Amino acid sequence: MTRPPSESGARPGSGPGRPARLSPAELARARAAAAQLHEEFADDSDEWEELSGPGDRDSLTDVPGGVRLQKVLAAAGVGSRRHCEELIGEGRVEVDGEIVRRFGARVDPQHQVIRVDGRRIPASEDLVYLAVNKPTGVLTSMSDSRGRKTMADLLPDVSERLFHVGRLDYDTEGLMLLTNDGELAHRLAHPRFGVPKTYLAEVAGPVPRGLGRQLLTGIELDDGIAGADKFRVIEQVGARALVEVTLHEGRKHIVRRMLAAAGHPVTRLVRTQVGPIALGSLPPGKTRKLSTKEVGELYAAVGL
Ligand code: URA
Repeated sequence: MTRPPSESGARPGSGPGRPARLSPAELARARAAAAQLHEEFADDSDEWEELSGPGDRDSLTDVPGGVRLQKVLAAAGVGSRRHCEELIGEGRVEVDGEIVRRFGARVDPQHQVIRVDGRRIPASEDLVYLAVNKPTGVLTSMSDSRGRKTMADLLPDVSERLFHVGRLDYDTEGLMLLTNDGELAHRLAHPRFGVPKTYLAEVAGPVPRGLGRQLLTGIELDDGIAGADKFRVIEQVGARALVEVTLHEGRKHIVRRMLAAAGHPVTRLVRTQVGPIALGSLPPGKTRKLSTKEVGELYAAVGL
């Protein structure tokens, strides 16, 4: 008696005319091999370009000696190469303002502006974007002729020439951004771009109800009126109060001067936010790299 195929040792579904069914282990092996092939193909071979069709060859995406677009996106932290290829295929990636769907595109990450879903990504691997929690007793500079501690002392591993975005007083703590992206640093610090900065200030209390209104309306200083964008009292304990002030002013000692002029001298000042970037739980003296998303938000905040 002939046995039915399912009992003959052949796998069910593997007979002629039926799709072969792989065991889970075989399937996993096949997937891994395909993924590896795909990576190698996408990385080095111009066959990929040929297979994906002639596309829209032009100087924008055929930069001689350029880097494959999906590789640039993946290196910038957008996702795996495969995910980046999907983004390209879905028309979500722009190079210098034009949507690029061609998988073979080679671009110049140093000079071209690349966006995903409209948000610019830090494409050049040479660019560094850091957040530092500056403690008190550190100068906002990269060197000091008088031997005082500077931001450079907090960054032992960074050899690039970095710009600090604006300044904090020697006695002020908190978020300081550092980058070698000169245009971004310039715009973030320039009052014209109106990037808001938020500070927590410990002041002499108790603070009256009208303090917020006074600061929001504007307070007379010796170099002109200064106003806050937001103000709130966080906590009042006896003769001390903790207040939060947000402003886009760049003048020296501005928060200390405003609060002193209002009759509430500052005893401790911490910057907690610069535009979209929050200090969060970064410990004093520590540094962290900004994420691709955060850098994109900074670009957006200053119209880059
Ligand atoms: N305002 C100040 O008074 N000091 C700072 O360091 C920053 C803003």
